[in-house]
Amino acid sequence: MEKAWSAMEAHAEAAQGRRIEALFEAPDRAAMFSLQACGMLFDYSKTALNGAALGILVDLASATGVEAQRDAMFAADKINTTEDRAVLHTALRNLDARIDVDGQDIMPEIRETLSRMQGFVKDVRSGAFKGQGGPITDVVNIGIGGSDLGPVMANIALTPYCNGPRVHFISNVDGADATDTLRGLDPATTLVIVASKTFTTIETMTNAETVRLWMAESVADPAVQFVALSSRPDRTAAFGIPEARTFGFGDFVGGRYSVWGPIGLSLMLAVGPEDFDEFLAGGAEMDAHFRAAPLADNLPILLALVGVWHHQGMGYPTRAVLPYEQRLLRLPAYLQQLEMESNGKRVTKAGAALPRETGPVVWGEPGTNGQHAFYQLLHQGTQVVPCEFLVGRVGHEPELAHHHLLLQANCLAQSEALMVGRSLETAREIASSLGYEGNELETQAAQRVFAGNRPSTTLIYERLDPRTLGRIVALYEHRVFVEGAILGINSFDQWGVELGKELATALGPVLSGEDDGHNKDGSTRMLANYLRGAG
Ligand code: F6P
Repeated sequence: MEKAWSAMEAHAEAAQGRRIEALFEAPDRAAMFSLQACGMLFDYSKTALNGAALGILVDLASATGVEAQRDAMFAADKINTTEDRAVLHTALRNLDARIDVDGQDIMPEIRETLSRMQGFVKDVRSGAFKGQGGPITDVVNIGIGGSDLGPVMANIALTPYCNGPRVHFISNVDGADATDTLRGLDPATTLVIVASKTFTTIETMTNAETVRLWMAESVADPAVQFVALSSRPDRTAAFGIPEARTFGFGDFVGGRYSVWGPIGLSLMLAVGPEDFDEFLAGGAEMDAHFRAAPLADNLPILLALVGVWHHQGMGYPTRAVLPYEQRLLRLPAYLQQLEMESNGKRVTKAGAALPRETGPVVWGEPGTNGQHAFYQLLHQGTQVVPCEFLVGRVGHEPELAHHHLLLQANCLAQSEALMVGRSLETAREIASSLGYEGNELETQAAQRVFAGNRPSTTLIYERLDPRTLGRIVALYEHRVFVEGAILGINSFDQWGVELGKELATALGPVLSGEDDGHNKDGSTRMLANYLRGAG
């Protein structure tokens, strides 16, 4: 396996000075370094990958046992070794399967929960289920991390399909979030969803209490308008939410992978059960492709290999996700959790320190807005940031087709500009046409040079409908899985967020003044004292 890594690293070293544009002298490059599958076109030809490097990357995937690890995930092996859990978010969207965990078929319960969700959603949307002031007009989802980001991202993405109650989200423990979200809502017609796998997350439980008090000021029995989504029914019952309005899921569904099941209830309420089914079908389609397609023709595997090439191979520390689709506004934030919580690890599954980088920093914003914010650095900064563009072939606003054309033109123009750049010669011509001469011309021209040779990929999907969104989300899930599998890490735990939670609990008394903070370092003590007005 180390041999395969060394081979990849040697190829990346050799590619450092390679001009991407020159690779297009091979006339079939675009066709060779792109793939069409699951209603999408993935173009990775604007990278420094050549045929040999691609072959080496595919060998790396083989040598690290990606296929066997993938099959182990789908076979319900307990691949989340630190928590001794299977990883089966895919079971939520492959409803005809039979999957045994600890000798028991988990599918009947998944199907039963889905059917209960569908029944409840139909009742809410038809008005058969009422709040204490009449039919439900608004839904507030209280959750954080995976219990928030997936539902928010998907609700915004599928805005044209939202024809149910309005959906709102409260995640931050900052009281501003609850205050601003609840402003203008009628408690008597609002349904509150408390979404928390563990049902102990301090932000969610604090917000849930606050919203319950807000509701109690106006309605006789707030509990009637509360729903719980959790894998801990004992705790939801203790909070006062009855079993009939609790939708559970197994511990084999990780928080950041949970939008496909009960945590997606807010989405189902907004778009209806049929479109939610479409979303699941899109995810299942990507699963089938991921399981069956050969490595070199497999979308999630190619995305992962390009990621490994750029981060571990070429040494680029971050990657930008740039959807040219305003409704994918929250996709970068969603992917930040998916990728950075999954692969931001420092040891292998066996606990050995990793000899190379793990997950890159993932960031981004929709285009074209980002163009007028941070693209300057992408084009002319000294850091190379591989860019991952996404754009729909067809928009949702046929009457505004000229907008969509401009959007697409901007998307393609950016990847072209990143690769091609602008030479000093051209920059001089520009400076000269502006009237500059001599030294001043040189100074002005230097500012207008674009080095180019900056890699990017482009994913084109048909139209951002529920099925397409399902395909996209599952594609990224599997990409993250493959990158983790190649690195040999456990992508399914998140111990790195525990320490901060523990320390926050301990700092409560320091901030309130009950504890003088003598155990704390000087900086933390000073900050705490200043915050409580004592320093
Ligand atoms: O941030 C850690 C984490 O455990 C995430 O993995 C998870 O999505 C989030 O907290 C929320 O957890 P829960 O759904 O249990 O409230």
